[in-house]
Amino acid sequence: MRAIIFESYGGPEVLQIIDIEKPTIKGNEVLVHVRACAANAADWHIMRGDPYLARLYFGLTNPKKNTVLGNDFAGIVEAVGPQVTNFKPGEEVFGQVITGAFTDFLCVSENSLSHKPKNLSFEQAASIPCAGLTALQALRNAGNIQPEQKLLITGASGGVGSFAVQIAKALGAEVTAVCSTRNVDAMHSIGADYTIDYTKDDYTLGNQQYDLVLDIAGDKPFADIRRIMKPSGAFCPVGGPGGGLLGSMADSLKALVVSQFLSQRVVLVMTNTNKSDLDYLKELIETNKVKPVIDCRFSFDEIPKAIHHMEQGHPKGKVVIFM
Ligand SMILES: NC(=O)c1ccc[n+]([C@@H]2O[C@H](COP(=O)([O-])OP(=O)(O)OC[C@H]3O[C@@H](n4cnc5c(N)ncnc54)[C@H](OP(=O)(O)O)[C@@H]3O)[C@@H](O)[C@H]2O)c1
Repeated sequence: MRAIIFESYGGPEVLQIIDIEKPTIKGNEVLVHVRACAANAADWHIMRGDPYLARLYFGLTNPKKNTVLGNDFAGIVEAVGPQVTNFKPGEEVFGQVITGAFTDFLCVSENSLSHKPKNLSFEQAASIPCAGLTALQALRNAGNIQPEQKLLITGASGGVGSFAVQIAKALGAEVTAVCSTRNVDAMHSIGADYTIDYTKDDYTLGNQQYDLVLDIAGDKPFADIRRIMKPSGAFCPVGGPGGGLLGSMADSLKALVVSQFLSQRVVLVMTNTNKSDLDYLKELIETNKVKPVIDCRFSFDEIPKAIHHMEQGHPKGKVVIFM
């Protein structure tokens, strides 16, 4: 079976398609025949070994042998381990692994899977886990967003942002989406109440004050963002040019320390894959409260192009891969 691996850190040119053995299941694992996967910012950060802190996990000088890239997938259950209780062969599923999704078959713990939403294709379902879970856990768990609270989301038109806008609306918040000019209409079409075009206006200079700022773009210092937070407001840094929480660790920790002397709070999110939250997202999707926004699709052979596209930093929603 095919798998995308990389033997050294670098650009998309380090990615290779190789043949590997089909994995065998054990215990509580499910063997999934992958039908689609999705690209994430994490893929190019892992491919480049950037931030360096991530190399403690993936390999210091070179990636660990046969590290298969990719974390989001959707497919069909081929077989289940003896302790699996929630899935059976033939069922359609979607889920997330830390690495290993860019392949034809993968083994995954049953707690990292849910049944595919009935109203979605495999490609749409593969787009959900990383971005959808991050958006959900940042808003609901870290940010504790409540109905009618005012929320500002930066990076609102990307993978995480397009889920965050819709989930926040489903949770009853009033949403202001920060995006570039070409995405303003799209943000309103998925439910944003207000938009701020970052190419024209600095959102930290507005008069509105927010209960929660979900900062996915990570392009402004906390000292500036504080100006538009209510005295009891919360700031949740999710991403930025340096990557997720690991890449922006220094800035996030600085904001966290500063916030100890303020009434405003800094709350952090590190996405955690679990069946209960995947089920929650499935429910939002099947009740038409959330719909994945797909920017573009690539074939399996074109995964290096998909990763390059992600690395440019301007997808309109999710980038998906068909097998
Ligand atoms: N904490 C976690 O566990 C976690 C999990 C997943 C992702 N992340 C991080 O979250 C971030 C976003 O991930 P994603 O998958 O949503 O990425 P994405 O799909 O590439 O989206 C990036 C977004 O940033 C916007 N953007 C790009 N340059 C900008 C600028 N100069 N100023 C303001 N906005 C700008 C883009 O909008 P325009 O096209 O309009 O410019 C786009 O909406 C990444 O840094 C990723 O590493 C963190």
